[in-house]
Amino acid sequence: MKKIKIRGGRPLKGHIEIGGMKNAALPILFATIITNDVCTVDNLPPVGDIQVALDILSNMGATVRRSGPTQVEIDTRGVRQGTSPAALVRRLRGSTYLIGSELARFSRAKVGLSGGCNFGARPIDLHKKGFVALGATVTDDDGYVSAFVHGRLKGTKIIMDNISVGATANILMAACTAEGVTTIENAAHEPHIVDLASFLNNCGAHITGAGTSIIKVRGVEKLHGCHYTIIPDMIEAGTYMVAAAATKGEVVLDNVISRHLDAVSAKMREMGITVLDEGDRITVKTTGSFGSANIQAVPYPGFPTDMQPQITALLSIADGISTVTENVFKKRFRYVEELQRMGAAINVDDQNSTATIVGVRTLHGATVTSTDLRAGAAMVIAGLAAEGETCILEVAETIERGYYDIVGKLRAVGADIELVEE
Ligand code: EPZ
Repeated sequence: MKKIKIRGGRPLKGHIEIGGMKNAALPILFATIITNDVCTVDNLPPVGDIQVALDILSNMGATVRRSGPTQVEIDTRGVRQGTSPAALVRRLRGSTYLIGSELARFSRAKVGLSGGCNFGARPIDLHKKGFVALGATVTDDDGYVSAFVHGRLKGTKIIMDNISVGATANILMAACTAEGVTTIENAAHEPHIVDLASFLNNCGAHITGAGTSIIKVRGVEKLHGCHYTIIPDMIEAGTYMVAAAATKGEVVLDNVISRHLDAVSAKMREMGITVLDEGDRITVKTTGSFGSANIQAVPYPGFPTDMQPQITALLSIADGISTVTENVFKKRFRYVEELQRMGAAINVDDQNSTATIVGVRTLHGATVTSTDLRAGAAMVIAGLAAEGETCILEVAETIERGYYDIVGKLRAVGADIELVEE
């Protein structure tokens, strides 16, 4: 069992290099299947989820060659449809992208039900609705989702019932080789949707409007390989921004796209924290205390749900009373119990939608569990700020899925933190 041990109370000072974005890399890695060619992907974060995705592709017959810690060459000419290993698929929410990519290349798909962070149900009804609209027959049988179309999918207008990053990405992939034009309305705006569209266009697709509510795809017969570099991870960057503030330090985050973090920066400034935005780097510093805020976690460009646990940890030591409302997922406050063990004064309403946080002077160290990827990041932030020692459990199953070398990066800026393997 891997644990993280932190002796808190030390201000973070120095530079942290931000890696590639996990949630942008996952759809792009599975989209290489559509190209039936060789793709080189750069700036891949060397984290657990990415390795699982590469293992799935290899198991399906792709040739995966690592040409450096963050670069991989993927030849998908040998990929066999419907052969993704269920045991690996189950570990990744992102493996749902196999459905869209198999449909786009083979006109059929068969994928085991996917997993991912457990904060409530993770349905894929919006994904399926999109595939059916494109002319596919979609069925569920004994733990697999299957989809099939005679010939090619047919372009059409799809109006999403609600904003879904995964469904937007999956439908976008399937539509690339459909006959005619597909319009996706009420599409997700996230930067990783834009990154996926850029990758697919580099492979010969015709996609316009990515990053807005209306994405248009003019289908082509087939795609070809390309060389692509993944965007920096805005959530990794946001996590370290919050850690800097929580420890009353001064940290420079290098290799970011600062506009992706505008909502996070705006809220931290509202709390009285200094956030200097210099395009490809952001500096966060605070010496004194900082104030409360009210946060609504909503789809991009609003405050990201993947930063909700982290900002809640920060607000638990702010001056005054704050509220954090989660509008994207139904049960994303499971980590609050763990923060309460450290002395946080937080109350979550019966609908599990809003946390009310009464700022305390300081948290105290405790042994806590990381309940999911971003909750684990929140526990690290709390431990860095707390007095005494914090021990975080379930690290390999959560934090290491999405944060490369979080212990090394924090030690390098002064944290008293270690990874303990038992
Ligand atoms: C992606 O999940 C990310 N995961 C999540 O990041 C992120 O929190 C989420 O987008 C929102 O930004 C990956 O990219 C691998 P959604 P996804 O479809 O695609 C509901 C992390 O920490 N919904 O935008 O699953 C859904 O239940 C992870 O890195 C349906 O009802 O998110 C949720 O309430 C956690 N039916 C809401 O929509 C569907 O068919 C938004 O989900 C699909 C989604």
